[in-house]
Amino acid sequence: MGFVNCYEDVIRASAYATLEFRNTYYLAFRDLPAVLSKHVNGKRALDFGCGTGRSTRLLGQRGFQATGFDISEDMLRLAQAADPGGDYCLVPEDNLNQFASGAFDLILSAFTFDNIPQAKKVTIFRDLRRLLAPGGIIVSIVSSPEIYTHEWASFSTKDFPENARARSGDVVRIIVTDHQDRRPVEDILCTDESYRIICQQAGLKVIQMLAPLANGNEGYSWIDETKIAPWVIYVLSSAESAG
Ligand SMILES: C[S@@+](CC[C@H](N)C(=O)[O-])C[C@H]1O[C@@H](n2cnc3c(N)ncnc32)[C@H](O)[C@@H]1O
Repeated sequence: MGFVNCYEDVIRASAYATLEFRNTYYLAFRDLPAVLSKHVNGKRALDFGCGTGRSTRLLGQRGFQATGFDISEDMLRLAQAADPGGDYCLVPEDNLNQFASGAFDLILSAFTFDNIPQAKKVTIFRDLRRLLAPGGIIVSIVSSPEIYTHEWASFSTKDFPENARARSGDVVRIIVTDHQDRRPVEDILCTDESYRIICQQAGLKVIQMLAPLANGNEGYSWIDETKIAPWVIYVLSSAESAG
């Protein structure tokens, strides 16, 4: 399938760089500190699909030695500009061979798998598993299937009623309303059932799963966020690790 990475685009990258942690995105990151405290031993982190670097900077603020990794030159240029001392790594063909096996205690992937075609997900998760140190974990934040059929503080999908008929692996569209670039983003729908099969095929096990809901007291103008979780957070370890 000729799926195009829509983040390989100067205008989109500039718009994306203005996003931080407000509105619906707040819920993607709210529970991350607790997840990291609970599961991560060690400070070496890879931010897989770091984009313009907000997730990498967040890891740095939490004391991790974080390397940002992305296939989009346009996104990475802005990540490096916002964080000149940071460690960012461009790899045009997503080739993780440059990293030693067991190099990372934590691999964070924030929304990256939303844009990766189904067939590639297993290969990439398997490659990421190789990079985990003993006891290391992958935290993968992805869009819930429901994000594509509801309205949100940060997103709109009402122009894409066909999303409701999409199956796992199909392209779905969504507009980010928190920034200036109102062209739709094309993602690949992936259900929880599919993610679990993919993880199993990649030799990973799900050790925690979160579906963050807003409680209404956050100070944002929620639309569906108090009733339906826009994100799913998978905490994954190697299936071979103890526990
Ligand atoms: C939605 S952005 C998320 C950026 C960042 N994690 C954040 O939270 O703001 C997804 C990023 O994943 C990158 N990406 C997509 N496929 C990738 C791959 N196979 N390897 C590495 N990065 C990839 C895109 O270029 C894009 O910058």
